[in-house]
Amino acid sequence: LSHDLTIRNIGELPVVPPGPVPGRRMRDVPLIPHAALVVRDGRIAWFGPEADLPRSGIAPVADEAVCDAAGGCVIPGLIDCHTHTVFAGSREREFVQRIEGRSYAEIAESGGGIRVTVDAVRAATLDQLVALARPRLARMLRGGVTTVEIKSGYGLSVEAELKMLQAIRRLADAATGAADMEIVATYLAAHTTPREFADRPDNYLATVFDEAVLARIRDEKLAEFCDVFTERTAFNVAQSRRVLLAAQRFGMTPKLHADQITQIGASRLAGEVAAASADHLEHIDDAGIAAMKQSGAVAVLLPACSFFLGVAQAPARRMLDADLPVAVATDYNPGSSMVESLPLTMAIACTQMRMTPTEVLVAATANAAAALRRADRLGAIAVGHQADLVVLDVPGHTRWLYEPGRSCVRTVIKRGRIVSEA
Ligand code: NIG
Ligand code: FE
Repeated sequence: LSHDLTIRNIGELPVVPPGPVPGRRMRDVPLIPHAALVVRDGRIAWFGPEADLPRSGIAPVADEAVCDAAGGCVIPGLIDCHTHTVFAGSREREFVQRIEGRSYAEIAESGGGIRVTVDAVRAATLDQLVALARPRLARMLRGGVTTVEIKSGYGLSVEAELKMLQAIRRLADAATGAADMEIVATYLAAHTTPREFADRPDNYLATVFDEAVLARIRDEKLAEFCDVFTERTAFNVAQSRRVLLAAQRFGMTPKLHADQITQIGASRLAGEVAAASADHLEHIDDAGIAAMKQSGAVAVLLPACSFFLGVAQAPARRMLDADLPVAVATDYNPGSSMVESLPLTMAIACTQMRMTPTEVLVAATANAAAALRRADRLGAIAVGHQADLVVLDVPGHTRWLYEPGRSCVRTVIKRGRIVSEA
């Protein structure tokens, strides 16, 4: 199959720069009207006004594909940089309990929450976990998502955490998985303390961060990142620091679920350990913003989670004004964000966080790539970048986010190859 392609008749091409794009620059994206884009060998080789294409100096290729965008907008492939897409079971009971007035933290403290999904994931086989995730990923791809991060964290034993990482590995594998997506694995064994370790969180952490386990994850390349839920109901800052540094010694890059429900210093820790990102940040403070700015951590905001829980959104404008690189992701999971649609999540960021459509586009492409340490290759309209692209059936990206709930995605392109066509 050829990885050479020319896209013609593009109504608007937002020239998203490679990330990380600092907050105050996220609204400045040049737009090329009446554009064309040429892919050679799976990479962007040229883009510009369509009228300039004959003078582009690009040699024609015999079997190259031609895609007519029909006046639609072309954007970089979307990157969902924070998901828990591998899970089993349903938490719809908690969904109703919250509507009736109980909070996410109350439900977690009274034995519900993450542990309910842990029971279901432990009971599922590796094959079942893969089979459950595959259609979710296929729908995400049709919605324009070409790269997805997936976390473990519903196993909470060495065996079940490795089972989750192996499921993610199988989904990532071109031969057996969602061949058209790039999948990035994150080890989230420090999600919460499982029941059998009730009041012994340190003993639990000692098992899942045992050096032999970390060595196996490194040797079998089962995870690129290590994430911790740093929260009053999960792990404190000292515990989080300890496990992130241990994982780092085995090649994993730190990430944190930070400042989601309470402020206990998690975003400051993200700065201290040079995390790739700190995610959630509903309760970030000035010290956290300063620490992240210093270290270059990406602020990953999860507006679908606050939407789903019915709680206040993270202070996005404060972080943008502080010039932090801001990303947006779904946090797709059965407890706090049963929202698999990144485009819907982006529309929520517009209306509920007051991010402009242009800022949100950068947040779900260039800055999401930076949160996954792939900004040199993914998430931008730049010569040499991988040709992961989405053709919309609307003339511009603002029109797209103005219509939440309708897909608007016509064609999805991965490495210059059309992988989904509406
Ligand atoms: O990102 N905050 C912690 N972890 C997930 C929720 C997990 C769950 O409730 O199952 C989150 O919101
Ligand atoms: Fe999460």
